[in-house]
Amino acid sequence: MSNAVAEAPAAADPAIQSFLVTFTIRRFDPEKDAEPRWVDYDVELFSTDRVLDALHKIKWEVDGSLSFRRSCAHGICGSDAMRINGRNRLACKTLIKDLDISKPIYVEAIKGLPLEKDLIVDMEPFFASFREVQPFLVANSTPEKGKERVQSIADRAIFDDTTKCILCAACTSSCPVFWTDGQYFGPAAIVNAHRFIFDSRDDNAEVRLDILNDKEGVWRCRTTFNCSEACPRGIEVTKAIAEVKQAVLRGRR
Ligand code: SF4
Ligand code: FES
Repeated sequence: MSNAVAEAPAAADPAIQSFLVTFTIRRFDPEKDAEPRWVDYDVELFSTDRVLDALHKIKWEVDGSLSFRRSCAHGICGSDAMRINGRNRLACKTLIKDLDISKPIYVEAIKGLPLEKDLIVDMEPFFASFREVQPFLVANSTPEKGKERVQSIADRAIFDDTTKCILCAACTSSCPVFWTDGQYFGPAAIVNAHRFIFDSRDDNAEVRLDILNDKEGVWRCRTTFNCSEACPRGIEVTKAIAEVKQAVLRGRR
């Protein structure tokens, strides 16, 4: 089968060259396909384009049935995590110039979550684990006469890294334990528990530590570091998990 081609728009500066890149995308339509299948698309792109731009070109110019999630296109909403050349990344943050375009670029859905269509998975098991760790502030006292809850810069810094999570699932869906045991809370849920466990204004750390001391909790982590490598926000996920493990052993933050 010859590859479908999506052309690049003319560059404003004629010195800027476009080039043809082959994308091999794992497609799956539950209404037609018994199994996923790989389909090639040739896309004309500029080096400043991102994988998300290529997916848009394919969808808008070649095959409107190609399905994927995206919203912000700027690395903030977390909706376009996918496997690109075998690595979990955000399509909107992956520049074509950073990939080896002498070979096809393989794009498929993230692993470990039920495949719904093409690059879309069912995120509900992921969000169920997130909800279970109580990812919200629990304060048992009322601040004095309308004053805010005071927190020192040093206390805020303790959980600064884990506030950056955008719930993209790149970490959890790169974890081999999660692939084999869908019951494991997974790195993202633990990162979001960490964000509140170590918040000095929160009064529910012990409850969250108890939840994560479960057989499907922090002790399932095998410290493979896949999660830290996958995180598009640069969060030290494995370090956060280790800090939660230590807090579980102490029985307090
Ligand atoms: S920790 Fe990083 S990889 Fe995991 S869900 Fe949050 S932003 Fe995504
Ligand atoms: S589209 Fe929002 S993070 Fe990529």
